[in-house]
Amino acid sequence: MDGNGRWAKRKHLPRTEGHTEGEENLARLVRVAVTRNVGWLTVFGFSTENWVRPRTEVRHILGLHKKLFGRVAELNELNVRIQWMGRPFDSPEARTPKYVQRAIRKAIADTATNTGMVLTVAFDYGSHAEMVHAARAAAAEGTIDQASIARNLYLPALPPVDVMVRTSGELRVSNFMLWQSVGTEVYFTDRPWPEFDGHELDNALALLA
Ligand code: IPE
Ligand code: MG
Repeated sequence: MDGNGRWAKRKHLPRTEGHTEGEENLARLVRVAVTRNVGWLTVFGFSTENWVRPRTEVRHILGLHKKLFGRVAELNELNVRIQWMGRPFDSPEARTPKYVQRAIRKAIADTATNTGMVLTVAFDYGSHAEMVHAARAAAAEGTIDQASIARNLYLPALPPVDVMVRTSGELRVSNFMLWQSVGTEVYFTDRPWPEFDGHELDNALALLA
């Protein structure tokens, strides 16, 4: 969900306002995605690399994830099941603070029986960390091959990515779902994340038609 900072800058607002608007936009987009019969929506909320940002910005983003995982009533109304992926809370490298862990656990439990769209939020996530995690687990099982890596990813039930969206004019690949995105279509847009709306989602989905 890239471009929150640039969106804010353009409006002469502090970066934190961009993140706040980005979170609101995710809530809006989840609603739209449900009407488009999207089965799996996975968003990159915070990466393993993002912790080096200024403390106040990180704290603001953490608060927004608590807010996001607190949207249980909305998710239930939409029959959406929420998931999280990132460095496991009990791993030595994990950085997710306890209060965000609690919000994540509660949201997962409180939406567990929903049967509609699956919304996966990647937080303290990086593809490299995920692949190291999967390789270690596969090695512990005794076989490192494609199948054993695949079943030891953070969320092995996630299907391969059909379409990846890159917002805010970024034409680079990021540290997001690299294992899962072989052959994936990529939708590039100049719009920053806070302005990624239903029309944009339709453009991205049109790549699959
Ligand atoms: C995305 O917006 C939010 C996070 C990575 C947490 P950015 O903060 O990366 O916004 P830009 O790239 O500075 O515009
Ligand atoms: Mg960015």
